[in-house]
Amino acid sequence: METQLALVTGASRGLGRALAAGLAREGYDLIIDARDAAALDAAAAQIRAAGAGGRTVIAIPGDVTDPAHRLELARAAELAGRLDVLVNNAGTLGASPLPALADYPPDELRTAFEVNVIAPIALIQLVLPLLRAAGGAVLNITSDAAVEAYAGWGGYGAAKAALEQASNVLAAEELAVRVWWADPGDLRTDMHQRAFPGEDISDRPLPESVVPAFVRLITERLPSGRYRAAHLLPAVR
Ligand SMILES: NC(=O)c1ccc[n+]([C@@H]2O[C@H](COP(=O)([O-])OP(=O)(O)OC[C@H]3O[C@@H](n4cnc5c(N)ncnc54)[C@H](OP(=O)(O)O)[C@@H]3O)[C@@H](O)[C@H]2O)c1
Repeated sequence: METQLALVTGASRGLGRALAAGLAREGYDLIIDARDAAALDAAAAQIRAAGAGGRTVIAIPGDVTDPAHRLELARAAELAGRLDVLVNNAGTLGASPLPALADYPPDELRTAFEVNVIAPIALIQLVLPLLRAAGGAVLNITSDAAVEAYAGWGGYGAAKAALEQASNVLAAEELAVRVWWADPGDLRTDMHQRAFPGEDISDRPLPESVVPAFVRLITERLPSGRYRAAHLLPAVR
């Protein structure tokens, strides 16, 4: 069987890096991005080493909100001749500390939507032909803040809710492609720390803990839909 290729955005740290390493262990080659080129290169070396026999990991630094960068990502997949999975993981919390909607700076709100909604949809548009050809899949990382009303989470939550509904419609439109939108649960990452500045978040699980859930979603090619990582883990199957 030919080696499968996954594109994971925001893979220099946190959930994206852990998931990319998990897919490398499953035998996937990878295209990854993040804005900080040095951090991305360091992550690429780790991800490469995680894969049995050393996987091909193409690291392309850039900002997912930049159309030229998105084209570079899509071209890398075109050059590879296939794309099996797109994971839209790169995201932003928006303003920190989290402001009430009454005080949310509109420019910060716009950025949250640019990164968390517009960029993932625009990247999907570019790679859909490859995904259709491969019978591939899109995994959009969302949040419980998309469906719960937590005070302070209005900007981020509204953007993630928009990404969830876009995923829902995409699943109805693209029958040859699996479309999953998934809440990973609270994770001990830089973004989570920004949501709780100055607080001890050491009780939150590491991102590696939810990788088996997402690997199961992808390798078992579960039906399109909304998932919670906790419900996909073997212990609660
Ligand atoms: N942590 C949680 O508790 C939690 C809970 C629910 C959902 N999530 C979701 O899980 C995903 C990953 O979050 P995380 O906690 O792992 O965050 P993180 O630790 O802050 O990592 C975010 C990653 O995305 C990259 N990134 C951010 N903005 C980008 C941009 N504009 N263009 C390209 N890359 C960008 C970052 O690198 P650079 O900064 O160098 O670009 C980094 O590699 C996000 O979609 C988040 O909303 C997280």
